[in-house]
Amino acid sequence: MYLKSISLKKYFIVFCILGIFQFGFAVSVPKIGEKLIRNHSYSNYKIVQPYKMDIELDVDMENQMISGYVVYHLKWNKNRNTTNSKTNKPVNKGLLASMSDPENSVVLDTKGLIIRDVYGMDHSGVNWNYGDSNSIIGKSLVIQLPKQDTIITVYYRTFNKVELNRAGKEFISALQWLKPEQTFDKVHPFMFSQSQAILARTWLPCMDVPAVKFTYNAVVNYPSELNVVMSAQKFSDIPSFLKQNPKKNGEFRHFVKQVKRSNPSHPLTSAFFHQSLPISSYLMAIAVGDFKFQKLGKDCGVYAEPGLLEKAVWEFADLQKMIDSASALYGKYAWKEYNVLVLPTSFPFGGMENPVVTFATPTIITGDRSLVSLLAHELAHSWSGNLVTNETWDDFWLNEGFTVYFESRIMEKIYGKDYADMLTVLGLGELRKTLKDLMDNAPADTRLKLDLRGRNPDDGLTDIAYEKGRFFLLWCEQQMGRKQWDKFLNLYFKKHAFSTSNTEDFIRELNQFVTTQLKDPKFIQGEFLGKVKEWVYVIGFQEPNVKSSYLLAAESLAKHINSLNQQNISFAKESGLFLSSETKAWTTHHYLHFLRNLDSLSFANMRYLDSVFHFSLTMNSEIAFDWCMLSIKSGYLPAYGFIDQFLNRVGRRKFVLPIFEQLIRVGEMKAKAWMKINNKDSFQYTDFLELKLAFDSYEKAYSGYHSVTRSSIEELFHFEEWKK
Ligand code: BES
Ligand code: ZN
Repeated sequence: MYLKSISLKKYFIVFCILGIFQFGFAVSVPKIGEKLIRNHSYSNYKIVQPYKMDIELDVDMENQMISGYVVYHLKWNKNRNTTNSKTNKPVNKGLLASMSDPENSVVLDTKGLIIRDVYGMDHSGVNWNYGDSNSIIGKSLVIQLPKQDTIITVYYRTFNKVELNRAGKEFISALQWLKPEQTFDKVHPFMFSQSQAILARTWLPCMDVPAVKFTYNAVVNYPSELNVVMSAQKFSDIPSFLKQNPKKNGEFRHFVKQVKRSNPSHPLTSAFFHQSLPISSYLMAIAVGDFKFQKLGKDCGVYAEPGLLEKAVWEFADLQKMIDSASALYGKYAWKEYNVLVLPTSFPFGGMENPVVTFATPTIITGDRSLVSLLAHELAHSWSGNLVTNETWDDFWLNEGFTVYFESRIMEKIYGKDYADMLTVLGLGELRKTLKDLMDNAPADTRLKLDLRGRNPDDGLTDIAYEKGRFFLLWCEQQMGRKQWDKFLNLYFKKHAFSTSNTEDFIRELNQFVTTQLKDPKFIQGEFLGKVKEWVYVIGFQEPNVKSSYLLAAESLAKHINSLNQQNISFAKESGLFLSSETKAWTTHHYLHFLRNLDSLSFANMRYLDSVFHFSLTMNSEIAFDWCMLSIKSGYLPAYGFIDQFLNRVGRRKFVLPIFEQLIRVGEMKAKAWMKINNKDSFQYTDFLELKLAFDSYEKAYSGYHSVTRSSIEELFHFEEWKK
């Protein structure tokens, strides 16, 4: 309870402080029930939507705060009906359903934001209020616009450093503010956002739901010794096409003039951004830090801290080839440039497909280009996700399943079928593990179409969306042949470009295609459709038949070792096992497959493996991760120091969360066994090595983790049961 109660107290203090900022003009807003909050957003986007936002932000690195304003250009739905003509059901009006004047309000999502002022078209104040709030989706901002104005301006700021500290460990925000020592070069501070899935609202009031797409212009004022990127094209001056066409873009000029300055202690410089294509809020991104740019090809480049730039340039050398291959498969690349920003190690994900500039973990820079499929993945999102977007987070597999499938096609085109098959087999291994786990704990989450009502959309972030999604699409390909399948995909993508799609659209359009274009009776008589629905709506998974000749050697060696280990045979005596020329030529993927296929091993065997392969010294995070997991499974104590270091060295959630999970699972199992034997009803967690390691490592590492990583880990500690 210790950790939780402390942070609750902190929350309470913050809520009291925030209370001061919370009354705007007096508007009574009725409380709403959970059931009205659809798609994780309070916004009334069926009635009104911002189609363009003009944004100006001051980034205050010292106080760790963004302040600024957003001008929303609104489009009101002229044919708004209270019922849906097709279904006859009431349309979702979000919060407004229970308000007195639902047709003349704009409801935005916010979380941890302090709203300062809201202005209408003629720049006079309008009535606004915070509506209901919820720990997952945040707080609604209800703005009353009696005349259905088409422009509103919201002045706001994020929490500052002091308020963030008070909010404690569990405060979840898209933004992470890093001290110089938490960066690669250790000279300058760094700040970045991670908006997906529903955290854009923590740094920008918006309709934070993928179904709403908008273009944007932005001015960012930032410390002149640093650099800045956003998910848009960058200009060092107001883009001339905006200046020269004041009629068309009059609002932009208007918004540049009306700057309301805060008083920064450092000289700030300005950068201008223009996103001419409509994007969903989860793709809004910003980063400020000391990074430099180097071009990699005609349409692409990389940003990295100066000390890392050269390595990044070498690692990402194939980027232009990837763009060319992807464009040949799915149509022209829409976003003009494709750049990658290499972030500090605390970046909570492998990559994030922010338009124009993908954000990436530095852990893919391994010096051997073995993990570049991640770039193919993020690039593939330029079509699946950024162009055609999942309508709700329940349809998340449409973003990720398609992207993993596309990633594989890009890899096949550049590196050949064997290489792509190897990655597919590794993916299948991960999927089997996830399925086993979910079938025991949350079987409904093994469906492709999810039901995330009232839950955090993060719950949908499993290998089901990624890998089951990919294997489903691969199955579709195999059913009709690649030629027809590609034809369908191109039609589907054209139809939904710059818009959204949901699972039902996909199934309907796929079925229409196969029944009208293909001759085989299985398509016409509904057999295919039945199986499609099974893939999407039924729990579990239809095992695909994929093999990788690349990985066979690693797999059979692991199996052999498992059986020797079971017979209590020490490998040292059979050292010939590791001396073959084959293992000498192993790449990252062989090691991953090898480690993942090993059972828990005896101390002597773990030590011998380590002495041959030096796993406890590896700087390759993928290998390090699997070695940590195997070491915990095997109770191999000499690696526990390495685990502690690794947890402090990287903040990618996919790595650190399962390690904490495994440490706690093993530790709690031992503690429970101890209690049973000794007839006790409590235990001291410090007596159990794995629990102590988890706790101590976390205490050291948490301040370097992004809040999404932290909040996931903190759910694992059961302090009400653990005693000191
Ligand atoms: N868009 C995702 C990351 C994401 C999804 C962040 C949902 C927050 C919520 C990104 O494209 C992704 O899938 N990243 C993967 C890497 C990829 C190679 C599978 C990751 O971060 O591990
Ligand atoms: Zn992805």
